[in-house]
Amino acid sequence: MIRSYIRHGVVAVLLLASITVVAQSWQSPSIDPKIEARAQTLLRQMTLNEKLGQLSQIFWYKGAPDDRIQKGELGSYLFLTDPHEINRVQHVAVEQSRLHIPLLIGFDVIHGFRTIFPVPIAQAASWDLDLNREIQSVAAAEASSVGINWAFAPMVDIARDARWGRIVEGSGEDPYLGSQMAVARVQGFQGAVPGSANHILACAKHFAGYGAAVGGRDYDASYLSDTELQNVYLPPFHAAVDAGVACIMSAYMDLNDVPASGNRWLLHDLLRDSWRFQGFVVSDAWAVYSLEAHGMARDAEDAALRGLTAGVNMDMGSDTYLKYVPKLLDEKKVTMQQVDQAVLPLLRAKIELGLFEHPYIDESKVDAALHDPAHLTLARRAAARSAVLLRNENTQLPLSKRVSSIAVIGPLADAHQELQGSWSFGGDPKDVVTILDGVRANLGSGVAIHYAVGTTVKREDQANLDPDRLAQSAASTAPQEPDAEIAKAVAAAKASEQVILVLGELDSMSGEYASRASLTLPGKQQLLLESVAATGKPITLVLVNGRPLDITWASTHIPAILEVWFPGTQGGNAVADLLFGDANPAGKLPVTWPRNVGQEPLYYNRNLTQVHEDDPKFASYYWDEPQFPLFRFGYGLSYSSFAISDLKLSSATMESRGIDVTVEVKNTSDRNGDEVVQLYTHQRYGSASRPSRELKGFQRLNLAPGETKTVLLHLTLADLSFWSPATHQRATEASTYDVWVGDSSVATNHAQFDVTATRVQP
Ligand code: BGC
Repeated sequence: MIRSYIRHGVVAVLLLASITVVAQSWQSPSIDPKIEARAQTLLRQMTLNEKLGQLSQIFWYKGAPDDRIQKGELGSYLFLTDPHEINRVQHVAVEQSRLHIPLLIGFDVIHGFRTIFPVPIAQAASWDLDLNREIQSVAAAEASSVGINWAFAPMVDIARDARWGRIVEGSGEDPYLGSQMAVARVQGFQGAVPGSANHILACAKHFAGYGAAVGGRDYDASYLSDTELQNVYLPPFHAAVDAGVACIMSAYMDLNDVPASGNRWLLHDLLRDSWRFQGFVVSDAWAVYSLEAHGMARDAEDAALRGLTAGVNMDMGSDTYLKYVPKLLDEKKVTMQQVDQAVLPLLRAKIELGLFEHPYIDESKVDAALHDPAHLTLARRAAARSAVLLRNENTQLPLSKRVSSIAVIGPLADAHQELQGSWSFGGDPKDVVTILDGVRANLGSGVAIHYAVGTTVKREDQANLDPDRLAQSAASTAPQEPDAEIAKAVAAAKASEQVILVLGELDSMSGEYASRASLTLPGKQQLLLESVAATGKPITLVLVNGRPLDITWASTHIPAILEVWFPGTQGGNAVADLLFGDANPAGKLPVTWPRNVGQEPLYYNRNLTQVHEDDPKFASYYWDEPQFPLFRFGYGLSYSSFAISDLKLSSATMESRGIDVTVEVKNTSDRNGDEVVQLYTHQRYGSASRPSRELKGFQRLNLAPGETKTVLLHLTLADLSFWSPATHQRATEASTYDVWVGDSSVATNHAQFDVTATRVQP
């Protein structure tokens, strides 16, 4: 920690001296010289206010008078989704402004636009990179059809604390999985290169460390050691940059007491100088102005100075640049060269997008693009591939379709908006196939379906923000009246052969400003669960949620548990496919699932610190909870069964060409299914302690009944590298390495190899 303070301090002193370094990196050969020349030519013609306009993005709901666009004083809108209005403002920008510069239209295309796909954590649970690429590509096609040309996604924040609401928006706890997903999603949004037809710009967010908010409370500060930052939180961003992401969004919170959106070390030294990022940085909403609230900026003017000089190209929402930079220039606190350097990447992005040539959309094509049946097919497939089967005692699942009656119970069983999850503003809840709809459609009219809501859940009822209500509920000792809705649910269960209980969270309970102190099932759902379970009927629990919940009771009392997350528009059909065996679950957890909220933050790739770790007395755990999580990272069941064996390495020593790791994977069941083969490594000794296991490769593959396939996972020296707090550099160290391959983070097939010489990574 002290080290990062010192580094930030030194960097601040070097602030002015580094301008030429920036200029050099912007002229690096990877920028197309034609695009650069066009951007430079345009820049030379621009007035100061036109330049500052390019650095300004405002929310559509605030609206801008057209004359601001005519004057060239607006570069971008966010939250404008109406195709007709987008065309109109583009016409104003292109035809009525002096330099005819089109607008960037940005939106939170997080897991779909009109077709809502499973939330990002669910997509990560598929461990299917092609699927992730395909989903973002469809989302981009839909969004671009209405004129949106920039997604505020992917969110690549590592999240290791289920209390943090935004865990739902990312890929979970692991830097390797997170990096792979980041790359696939960037490629999906952007296509082969920014500007590819039917694609849009991607923006990796929130740079950096947002997921480590103290206590999992959204917006709280993050305190990260250099080691955690370098080895855990930064890799997915670095991977996104290497994949050519057009934009980085700077985060809201303090990173080791320096606000991320005023952090020049982060936004300039690391991002531009070390990683050679050529795109543009947008602040999170109002994050520039918020530098004053942080206690970093003296006032809004000072915030503009700090944001701009730290490396924020575009101010989202707070409009500080247009207001204050002219004065800052007069006072010689910033130079025109700095302004130009901020504007250039934005001009380049618009040129790369082809916006100057094609600023308008064809409104007659929007409907077809938003209602392409292929998108619904993909949404159904994606939801099925993202589900994780957590428990299946006595192979209760898949359920037989030959039943006479089935109960579908729970506040989320017939929910529309809730299945979409947060960040689904472009979706229409009416399009959503609920789980009840899906079960009905799957079973047809021959089966009696008894539906009961069981209980209603509201976020307001759970939020103990009202002191009067708190006092009342604390004072109330009256015994609970029997609950009429629960009684109806129990009756529905008693009248049925099978019970599907759909419980979890509302969409508003996970996401931004949706952190929770507890992980229990909100409202009376636990009571509902236990009451229905008391009927003795075979129950399948379907969980709809954006984070691991406390289901420790259910994990021993309910024979079948299927985690479907917020599964999106086609969620109900996909869930029915899974429940009745038309699809076979194969998702694996991208997060460690705690038994109890008190175990958070919890993650698998931790360091061991005791020689007697296997003696619970010396293990790192709480005496009032078992040592292990409820479900491990990488865990998930299937209706098939698999055997993974014959781990082989191509060499006992890893040289520069890496090592091939192979295993034999056999489907030992009579059902076609997918397995996710996972490879973990451990460095036995070196300059610093290393995690007991780290994911370094995976592959999801399909196997017919009885089929055996050889899976090859290639391990490189770079895969083994880490940033060492002892040497302050990223290297692959000479050491002995363990490798395990299996079906979760407790993989047991083991081998070892050596790296004989330390290699520093450039
Ligand atoms: C969120 C960002 C989002 C932005 C624009 C902010 O509150 O933190 O993730 O992209 O709003 O909607």
